[in-house]
Amino acid sequence: MKQLQIIFFSAFLVSWIAASTPTCTNGFTLVNNKCLKLFTNVSTYRAAEKSCMDYGATLVTAKNSIDNRAITTFVGSAASLIWIGLYCLDSSPSRCLWDDSTGAADTYNSFSSGFPLVDIGKCVYYSTQGALAGKWLSGDCDKEPRAYVCELPSTHADDCPYNYNGYCYTFSQSSSAFAGAQTQCELNCGNLASITSANENRYITTVSRRLGRGSVLIGGMWPSTNVFSWVDGSVWSYNNIDPFTNHTDNCMVMSNAVTGTPSAGSWTSVSCSSAFSYLCKRPAGLKCTNPTYPSVTVTPVPSNPSNCNSSLLLAPGIITSPNYPYYYDNNVRCSYYLATLGSYNILLKFTNFWTEQTFDWVAVNDGDTTANTLLGNYSGTLAPFNVVSTGNTATVTFSTDRSNVYPGFSARFTPFAGCIAC
Ligand SMILES: *[C@@H]1O[C@H](CO)[C@@H](O)[C@H](O)[C@H]1NC(C)=O
Ligand SMILES: *[C@@H]1O[C@H](CO)[C@@H](O)[C@H](O)[C@H]1NC(C)=O
Ligand SMILES: *[C@@H]1O[C@H](CO)[C@@H](O)[C@H](O)[C@H]1NC(C)=O
Ligand SMILES: *[C@@H]1O[C@H](CO)[C@@H](O)[C@H](O)[C@H]1NC(C)=O
Repeated sequence: MKQLQIIFFSAFLVSWIAASTPTCTNGFTLVNNKCLKLFTNVSTYRAAEKSCMDYGATLVTAKNSIDNRAITTFVGSAASLIWIGLYCLDSSPSRCLWDDSTGAADTYNSFSSGFPLVDIGKCVYYSTQGALAGKWLSGDCDKEPRAYVCELPSTHADDCPYNYNGYCYTFSQSSSAFAGAQTQCELNCGNLASITSANENRYITTVSRRLGRGSVLIGGMWPSTNVFSWVDGSVWSYNNIDPFTNHTDNCMVMSNAVTGTPSAGSWTSVSCSSAFSYLCKRPAGLKCTNPTYPSVTVTPVPSNPSNCNSSLLLAPGIITSPNYPYYYDNNVRCSYYLATLGSYNILLKFTNFWTEQTFDWVAVNDGDTTANTLLGNYSGTLAPFNVVSTGNTATVTFSTDRSNVYPGFSARFTPFAGCIAC
């Protein structure tokens, strides 16, 4: 029965897409089937990336010469140098990664000769003027303020509040378990949402966080350890299951990380009979016979996903530097007080660690104040490592100086019994 519905639905979709013209939301302009918006206020790469993120967008990408030329045409003389969404780990295009997680710039690039050059900087900007028009150059992510262009995929005209890449997303006002939630979505000509790219996940995370949603039920079904599918029949082409969770139940929620664990936008398994607020997705531009779209008000809520300066944090949980995985700020002081119950110790697993050597450091003390024994003081670029407390509290301090910023750290802390080496 479900199979039949999906086939009917797909056939309908094809004819509808052919008839509908692409449009852009949020005041973006349609350029070559993508939606672009120019910001002429200059800013660091990180601030630019964050500003795009507010729209669920990325910095502009150019994966072929047509897209690349279109940037010059679009920007014109309004700005001469603009950040693009490319970050180089090394001075080779194959080590430059697109911000939208689609891979490296090895198949197409427009670097000016001698670039990329990470000695100058790891971020990449685009020149729109003169002999360098259309060329890419390396820039210091933090010290070279530039204009920037954000990019969203085009979509189809619809008056739904969250219209992205041809789909309308509706966050439920009420909670429901999987079956009831899917029924509600179907009543509005949709399904519980599938998420099939890093960009779609980014968009949903941005909106979900803006709406202050906790865990949101999505259309992922997880019947056994390595078997996944989407209720709308989409191919399982992208996976953002929290690497620290195991399969325990058969349905899935996306976390918005207000509580810090699991990390922002990642998915974890939940019982199919537990009620959550849920996310429906339907094609944009679709005339549904009985549309009862709930209206949603957009109110930004402050959130502190890093847990910097939070009150006592009970294991298990996650702490990160502020803004992680984006760059932290200068002159940051953060304390994190970790605790676990009973006779457990705390196992603190640093999964990612990248700070300015010596000057931006993370100290771990074995107890509930910084007066207790120092277990370690870390800085620089470090491979994953563990720290274990001898009692059931630990204090982590993060301190940065007045210059140079990096992505910082992410650490998972869990109750731990026993010794780490055995
Ligand atoms: C540039 O200005 C726009 C509004 O005009 C604002 O939304 C955006 O945050 C600004 N960008 C930065 C990086 O401050
Ligand atoms: C997940 O499973 C692995 C292997 O069975 C186990 O070592 C690990 O502790 C589990 N993780 C969690 C969070 O339960
Ligand atoms: C954390 O608390 C310390 C001490 O109260 C304060 O100096 C610091 O600015 C706070 N950090 C943040 C990011 O709010
Ligand atoms: C950690 O090391 C840095 C660099 O040596 C030092 O400036 C800082 O005071 C140390 N922090 C602690 C808590 O010892």
